[in-house]
Amino acid sequence: MARIEVEVNGTHHELEGVEPRLLLVHFLRERLGLTGTHIGCDTSSCGACTVLLDGKSVKSCTMFALQADGRAITTIEGIGSSADLHPMQEAFWASHGLQCGYCTTGMIMSAIDLLGRNPNPSDGEIRAGLEGNLCRCTGYQNIVKAVRAAAAATAVESATRSEEPKRSGELVEVGGG
Ligand code: FES
Ligand code: FES
Repeated sequence: MARIEVEVNGTHHELEGVEPRLLLVHFLRERLGLTGTHIGCDTSSCGACTVLLDGKSVKSCTMFALQADGRAITTIEGIGSSADLHPMQEAFWASHGLQCGYCTTGMIMSAIDLLGRNPNPSDGEIRAGLEGNLCRCTGYQNIVKAVRAAAAATAVESATRSEEPKRSGELVEVGGG
């Protein structure tokens, strides 16, 4: 048994007695109670277990919990809440990018990683970026639409953010003159 220190969704955890063969997905679900990360296949095929490890998407059934020692993990619980959805969650909801929802948490984590690397992907790039995530329900079309909508919303949000300092700068100048 081993000891592990990880930061999960911004909270530091130190746990003793971690079985060396325990997969990261089981650690998150069973030791930390973060059941938003799903298990679809356990054989690295479906992507339902996708989380962010130091900001990059990984299938958490493909690594041991101990391999995450000293690193930062973000799960679906860490990106938003029902009262304050992440723009990607909002876009999936608004674009009907889910049906049963089983694949959705992994799909959203992969899509966030994709937009982090490529803020304005084409439909083809969205499909390629999500090729490791399988969905049995939606036919993918609305998922692509959701990611496109999230990319547009994020672009508007960052444009608005970059306008704000300029406006306050102008005010300071006017006040100072
Ligand atoms: Fe990890 Fe399917 S449960 S890829
Ligand atoms: Fe059901 Fe994707 S929404 S598996």
